[in-house]
Amino acid sequence: MIVLFSRDSLLSYKQNLNKPLAFVPTMGALHDGHLSLVEKAQNDGFEVLVSLFINPRQFNNPEDLLKYPKTIPQDLELLKRIKTHAVFIPDYQAIYQNNQTNEIFIDSEIQHKFEGHYRPGHFNGVISVLYEFFNLIRPQAAYFGQKDLQQCSIAHLVIKKYFSNIEFHRLETKRESNGLAMSSRNARLSLRAKNIAAIIFDQLQLISKQPSTHNLHLVAKKINEAGIEIEYLDIIDIQTFDSWNGIPSKNQAIIFAGYLEGIRLIDNLIIS
Ligand code: PAF
Repeated sequence: MIVLFSRDSLLSYKQNLNKPLAFVPTMGALHDGHLSLVEKAQNDGFEVLVSLFINPRQFNNPEDLLKYPKTIPQDLELLKRIKTHAVFIPDYQAIYQNNQTNEIFIDSEIQHKFEGHYRPGHFNGVISVLYEFFNLIRPQAAYFGQKDLQQCSIAHLVIKKYFSNIEFHRLETKRESNGLAMSSRNARLSLRAKNIAAIIFDQLQLISKQPSTHNLHLVAKKINEAGIEIEYLDIIDIQTFDSWNGIPSKNQAIIFAGYLEGIRLIDNLIIS
């Protein structure tokens, strides 16, 4: 496995590829969800480049940034095991040369809703790092996990506007055996909390069987009673992230964010 640290080494790496390149951006602390993105890209016929970069610009909460798990040696081991072709581990300067900010805009209200509302500035940070990565790496494809459904929509918009040659892929959320969505932040949950958090996916599934405002309220109450502080729980239109207007439709998802043991958890379920 090739490990790259600088822009220059990345550019020379790109000169010597035998297959088209897929990019899997991550902030490290890898779990099976990340690995499934790499494996899917490999099965789709790509050479895969994974980035490990904790992007400070997307953290609206300094404590969250400080506590974000950092596990580079283990990450490299996992990536090597699944025969990842290359890993890019840039520092801040390599990504944001001279701390510059490119003026990148995606013209969509999506970025201000839900995650955008509760984490001010978060999507600006995501948009700027993805722009820098895509611009430097110029992959043929990029793979994202559905757990961050709103981020997937934002990434897709960045690609459509600025990098229309990149194929966008969104892959299903990987879950623990109790249904808890895999997340790097789960490493900070106690075993007790992990068991409690299983209720989130259970209840999302319940709503998906009969989506209604009444059921949303019932489920919110149950999740609260389990000790999870809900930030949002809603049924939305996947294209716009507008809250449900009560009319049954196909393009919907139930989205959730909340806190347990001070850790922020998000999940979603697409209603099909
Ligand atoms: O989902 C993440 O881990 C990050 O938001 C991403 C896409 C790697 C950008 O920093």
